[in-house]
Amino acid sequence: MTMHDPIKSPDKNEAPRSLIERASQMYDFRKALSQETPKLPDVPVAPPPAAPVAAPAPAPAPVVPPVVAPPVAAAPVAPPAAAAPVAPPAAAAPVAPRAPVLPVARVDRDLLREAAFIVPDGPVTSISEEFRIVKRRLLASVQAEINAGLGVAAQRILICSANPGDGKTYSAINLALSIATEKDHDVLLVDADFAKPSILSSLGIAGQSGLMDALADPSVEVQDLIIPTDIPGLSVLPAGRQTNTDSEYLASARTQEVLASLTAGRPGRIVIFDSPPLLAASPAATLAQHVGHALMVVRADVTSERALRDALSLIAGCNQIQLLLNGVKFSPSGRSFGSYYGYGE
Ligand SMILES: Nc1ncnc2c1ncn2[C@@H]1O[C@H](COP(=O)(O)OP(=O)(O)O)[C@@H](O)[C@H]1O
Ligand SMILES: [Mg+2]
Repeated sequence: MTMHDPIKSPDKNEAPRSLIERASQMYDFRKALSQETPKLPDVPVAPPPAAPVAAPAPAPAPVVPPVVAPPVAAAPVAPPAAAAPVAPPAAAAPVAPRAPVLPVARVDRDLLREAAFIVPDGPVTSISEEFRIVKRRLLASVQAEINAGLGVAAQRILICSANPGDGKTYSAINLALSIATEKDHDVLLVDADFAKPSILSSLGIAGQSGLMDALADPSVEVQDLIIPTDIPGLSVLPAGRQTNTDSEYLASARTQEVLASLTAGRPGRIVIFDSPPLLAASPAATLAQHVGHALMVVRADVTSERALRDALSLIAGCNQIQLLLNGVKFSPSGRSFGSYYGYGE
């Protein structure tokens, strides 16, 4: 397909299936990557639409070296002081969600249509169906990580890829638009491509301060920079001012606090980070340490296996990594993945 063509099912009689399902049939990502990538990505196998969605296979647990306590010299043990009565720990008071302070921004539907994004309240398209399947897999993964006690990081999804032009922003916006329609979730789309932010311009929203301003200035409350939109369930956090030390700010202790406040009082909120290319800039690798899930966008016929391996190695510490194959061409025989893994045309 050309970039703007709708994605067609290889067989008209077959229920359309997700790109990622088809991709996993074509490529054995685990096998292809296992020789050099220490932590294998979780390759989702999406079911046909309308079929019950199986929970994703649990990712292999990160290998954590056992903590070895140093030998302690036996010292005379003083008798414990009389214990003061200890009050039971107070239950964490529920945090009230902070109301947005910025006015509601209108998302330009014509821009969405022109760039082949999902159009809210528009017709069901193959793109909206593809992202519905990707969304289901990710939301199941979010729930599994919440149940496993991962905490607020479970609510965060990083969209990343090896190179520019792979479709990170395209995927981040479409995924956000798809999640925004969920009854139990709202979505905050964060532009974390500080050098080349494009979320606002893609949606037709005017520029504002953003994440980097909040990281750089402790007096700035990041929640006040969130722009609510006229698409129900969708708000946006701009990248903010550009600095020469984006990565240092992102790696600072304040990041944890700023990111935590994005979901404070909002247990149903999903935070999606659009990011710069992993092989060109460090913010995505730094952000990967704060998120529960990374969606690695792979551009069919463009992303090399070497680049994919290198990119994966930079986010190896992330709890769940899923691959999204973008821009696949399908021939009627279903075999036109090109030379991505040297399998021939
Ligand atoms: N599957 C797709 N269908 C249509 N257009 C796409 C698709 N994937 C990417 N594009 C377009 O390709 C260009 C590069 O994608 P983009 O998401 O900006 O890449 P990145 O954020 O990884 O640099 C954009 O114009 C985008 O709209
Ligand atoms: Mg981008």
